[in-house]
Amino acid sequence: MSSHAGRGGLTDRELKAAVKAAKPVVRSILKSRSKLGFAALPYRESILQRVDAYARQVRGRFRNFVQIGIGGSSLGAAALTGALLDRFHNEKSRPRLYFLDNVDPEETSSLFERIDPSETLFHVVTKSGETTETVAGFLVALERLHRKVKRPGSHLVVTTDRRKGFLRKFANTEDLKTFEIPANVGGRFSVLTPVGLLPAAVAGIRIEEVAAGAILADELCSRRDPRENPAAMYAVISHLMDTRHDRRIHVMMPYARSLRDCGDWFRQLWAESLGKKKGDGHVGPTPLLALGATDQHSQIQLFVEGPADKLVTFVTLLRYRKDLFIPASVRDPATDFLHGKSFSDLIVAEQRGTEAALAAAERPSMTLELTQVSPKTLGAFFYFFEMATVFAGRLYGVDPFNQPGVEAGKLAAFALLGREGHRERAAEVGRILATDPKYVIR
Ligand code: PA5
Repeated sequence: MSSHAGRGGLTDRELKAAVKAAKPVVRSILKSRSKLGFAALPYRESILQRVDAYARQVRGRFRNFVQIGIGGSSLGAAALTGALLDRFHNEKSRPRLYFLDNVDPEETSSLFERIDPSETLFHVVTKSGETTETVAGFLVALERLHRKVKRPGSHLVVTTDRRKGFLRKFANTEDLKTFEIPANVGGRFSVLTPVGLLPAAVAGIRIEEVAAGAILADELCSRRDPRENPAAMYAVISHLMDTRHDRRIHVMMPYARSLRDCGDWFRQLWAESLGKKKGDGHVGPTPLLALGATDQHSQIQLFVEGPADKLVTFVTLLRYRKDLFIPASVRDPATDFLHGKSFSDLIVAEQRGTEAALAAAERPSMTLELTQVSPKTLGAFFYFFEMATVFAGRLYGVDPFNQPGVEAGKLAAFALLGREGHRERAAEVGRILATDPKYVIR
């Protein structure tokens, strides 16, 4: 990891003071590390073995694997598989992977039109066991299975809490294959549970390598001196930039298409963990995703010349898994400089150019460098950001593991949908939503 001091960045003095202040925070978190449920996951060989054994059983049997889940029950799984599988995996390999993480009627209809339930394994994922969006998708899947197959249960696998929730009850009654999300692991920290590992293993990804990468990151992120600990430094710099330098928007900008979904995963982790009420006030950076080089032609104008409120994290690669050379198909001064260069030369120059443009405009950035996209570096990436989030949570003075702000919208939707026990709030919600006709433009 590297960052720019000076040029809109932090001075040595400031950084030293922040590191000093962070020392007790880092020590106290590391001291109670055994309480961090997600931190134990890469060491839980039994989870890896059970996931792997089941994945081997089902891999050749199904043409489609559909994960039904939302938020933390989908984003990590999509990020892990999206990074490691070929971008066109579904066009040429089996099983094709789909993530149903929305209740968009068009998308949901299209998915069920595209897949034949008799050739599909549905992985239903919900920690609470009752999330409306997930339950709705599951009900459709179940009905389609009942119509098409003799034993719907053999097309369903459920990952949920060990005891609680509707899905657990249903899975037990129907004797479905199940995996657990440990009680002390929250949704957005669950990528290294069967939530993320099962789709990966079914697609043939070596999940033990993912765990090995997380263990490597754990070694780095367990160093007591913040200056030696990349997750602690990431949290210290991000927090300082937000709270003392008004860099409230934290942009993740990977220079690899395969890491785009990792940016989505980070967005949720950073937003839901750190955006909280604190006493009478409110804290939390706003995460944003930009994809290099594509979004250089979309958002960089804003980052370089717009408000000075952003901190960019570039994610770069030392090696790309595939590359190609730019041929001399045309001779012209506008193209000659490209001849013989590789696309990796090009993307590296584009990233460095953007970094330089930001620095020249006194816009700070950090760079997280991965050797290449692999199961190991992905495992390290996830673990690194999870630990950084825990450190940042303590620096912001908030609990990174809860999400009380998500509840209000959920409960209002229950009232509108007439769920028992919530109907009485429908009138109140209706009043809140009532629009004054004088502000409606038709
Ligand atoms: O990170 C979280 O806790 C949330 O994003 C949840 O994953 C999301 O709300 C889905 O919840 P559940 O897994 O209970 O269906």
